[in-house]
Amino acid sequence: MIEDMLRTPSAVRDAERYTAHNYHPLPVVISSAEGAWLTDVDGRRYLDCLAGYSALNFGHRHPTLIRAAHEQLDRLTLTSRAFIHDQFADFCRELAALCGKDLVLPMNTGAEAVETGIKVARKWGYQVKGVTPGQANIIVADGNFHGRTTTIVSFSTDDDARADFGPYTPGFTVVPYGDLAALEAAIDENTVAVLLEPIQGEQGVVLPPDGYLPGVRRVCTDRNVLFVADEIQSGLGRTGRTFACEHEGVVPDLYLLGKALGGGIVPVSAVAGNADVLGVLKPGQHGSTFGGNPLACAVATEVVRLLATGDFQRRSTELGERLRAGLEGLLGKGLVAVRVRGLWAGVDIDPTLMTGRQACERLMERGVLAKDTHGSTIRLAPPLVITADEIDHAVAQLAAVLAA
Ligand SMILES: Cc1ncc(COP(=O)(O)O)c(C=O)c1O
Repeated sequence: MIEDMLRTPSAVRDAERYTAHNYHPLPVVISSAEGAWLTDVDGRRYLDCLAGYSALNFGHRHPTLIRAAHEQLDRLTLTSRAFIHDQFADFCRELAALCGKDLVLPMNTGAEAVETGIKVARKWGYQVKGVTPGQANIIVADGNFHGRTTTIVSFSTDDDARADFGPYTPGFTVVPYGDLAALEAAIDENTVAVLLEPIQGEQGVVLPPDGYLPGVRRVCTDRNVLFVADEIQSGLGRTGRTFACEHEGVVPDLYLLGKALGGGIVPVSAVAGNADVLGVLKPGQHGSTFGGNPLACAVATEVVRLLATGDFQRRSTELGERLRAGLEGLLGKGLVAVRVRGLWAGVDIDPTLMTGRQACERLMERGVLAKDTHGSTIRLAPPLVITADEIDHAVAQLAAVLAA
């Protein structure tokens, strides 16, 4: 039987056998990839419509990034921050310029960037704003996803992410996403920051109501509160701009960046801000052994240079319109809602038809890989190197899954 000759079933079994079950992956085992395409251990090809949750904005193995990584591997991979290495300054300067900020602080994972933002905001609150010691508070939104550390899950409103991981870190107030009046009402003399995703990715690509982000910016400025934008998933070209905040002309006090910053090769995250905020940190107060390592900086500098051309942002805008048109054509034909910004889409499937998981399994059988978020919602976030024809192909496969 052909089925018996496939390598996938045993590879799936082995992966399940030796790992904690903190993920529920689709039963596909990838062995190589290029651009927007993945190949599995049995030679089947799939169009990648997740792009590593936006960590692969530039596609798999972008030649410029791979070259930078190879060259760096041959010279120097790690020093720790005890010494300065020759890739560090360029990366920090060029990323700061891309962000329009004075300084950056490199870390590794997104959660670390969020933790860094929280620590900086608290210290700024005590040292600059004059908040009573130990009383600093940060306002966050319900439906948020900022990572998995014990502090971050303390203010999650998703029971799966939060339950049984207490005791929880105090100092956070949750308000409804998109409700400016609630946010303003929650601010008091101890509020040091508002921490928001400009678009809530994990929640299903939930877009803020028009005027919300500018309103948050205005309130934060008026009340001397930092606006911390978690652009870890929404940033770096995904939505057709370098930052999702730009769609409404908003500039936060701190950008939290990750995912695509590492070019799909290494984990790289960073916080970008001005000296009056990021400057509160002094030696010994924060750090990371691997943060800003030479390999990370070499790759991420090239990422910043790719973004500085604006080409990926333009592609995302143009192709995003094609994705939107295709998906909106499926409204009433199995889809009940579609939210698109750039090459990022949340689609809600009629829950009487199938779950998001079932839709993703059926898409997989048709050679398209995507990921469900909650219930009957799936998220499409293809690499920004995807072509118009490939977008049409992905939409056609979704249409076929919905019609079956
Ligand atoms: C908006 C946002 N913030 C933070 C994170 C955490 O990033 P990491 O998984 O690299 O810790 C994620 C990951 O999905 C995210 O989407």
